[in-house]
Amino acid sequence: MIEQKPCYILAIESSCDDTAAAVLKNDLVLSNSIANQSIHEAYGGVVPELASRAHQQNIVPVVDQAIKKAGITKHQLDAIAFTRGPGLLGSLLVGTSFAKSLSMGLSIPLIEVNHLQGHLLSHFIADGNPNPTFPFLGITVSGGHTQIVKVTNYFTMEEIGRTQDDAIGEAFDKCGKVLGLGYPAGPHIDRLAKEGDPAAFTFPIPKAEGLNVSYSGFKTAVINFLHKNTQNNAAFIKENLADLCASIQYTLIEIIFTKIFKAVEQTGIKELAIGGGVAANSGLREKLQTTAKEKEWTVHIPPFAYTTDNAAMIGIVGYLKYRQESFAGLDQAATARLPI
Ligand code: KG4
Ligand code: ZN
Repeated sequence: MIEQKPCYILAIESSCDDTAAAVLKNDLVLSNSIANQSIHEAYGGVVPELASRAHQQNIVPVVDQAIKKAGITKHQLDAIAFTRGPGLLGSLLVGTSFAKSLSMGLSIPLIEVNHLQGHLLSHFIADGNPNPTFPFLGITVSGGHTQIVKVTNYFTMEEIGRTQDDAIGEAFDKCGKVLGLGYPAGPHIDRLAKEGDPAAFTFPIPKAEGLNVSYSGFKTAVINFLHKNTQNNAAFIKENLADLCASIQYTLIEIIFTKIFKAVEQTGIKELAIGGGVAANSGLREKLQTTAKEKEWTVHIPPFAYTTDNAAMIGIVGYLKYRQESFAGLDQAATARLPI
């Protein structure tokens, strides 16, 4: 075990459309820089080729900014952690190649990180909040993933439930697109839902086996419902926007919550940690907090900066692996698919 002396880790995240870099001193975040790619807004979704190109443009300035903000020089770095997968291959290749080159240039070790482990282990960042205790149920709700994971130790994780089709964030975004909201639509739905009645419209909760969930049927039901109603009244969406957002958000949350309840019941684990972009949703946060009180669960909800994709979460995994001297070879390759 490498211990005692504080270590500085540079972390790089480029799995989707955000180019992010962070510097950690042990488990403390010194800087957390991000360049969002607004180019995808015009297309209503991430365009992989444009994402790779934007990563190429952003990676050097973002890393430079993270190191400067941390108040150190690159020569003080002890290791470089990077997202190996899962994600868009072209995007991952930019971060991976950059991390390798810099690690060779500085002669410091390289640490590969699974993006999904990053979301769950972000709770171990020293941010003043108590860390989860093992075992806990990790719930990742993002644009690309929806899963329930039994976390027995830092790197002992078992997926016990997942989406069979679309991710919850994808369902937020696709429903928002038909409502005429900008991309990504999740935050818009969240904002508008606050003014609406969640019981105004009833949408079905799709069936899925065990602890799995399904979102694609729900999305189709919403699209058909809107299509039918706008045929009768062209202003239907405009006149009911807040109620539609509140009802859609309510059902999207119910779908995953049904399985969260079931997972707690099946495993007997009442310690829960949520992560991923949709963990920023105020309805979901509120429901988790009120349920935690009612059912005596301990719920960990990350600060906003660590919910959507960020490099600090890659850095904390980097630090935990650094302590175990779990380093990656230079032959390590990015991979679009990587189980947790
Ligand atoms: O974790 P993330 O940044 O990227 C992925 O790994 O996918 O998640 C992005 C997703 C998008 O679908 C976005 O609409 C959703 O998170 N999101 C939200 C909110 N903020 C971001 N969904 C609902 N409510 C929010 N406040
Ligand atoms: Zn993510």
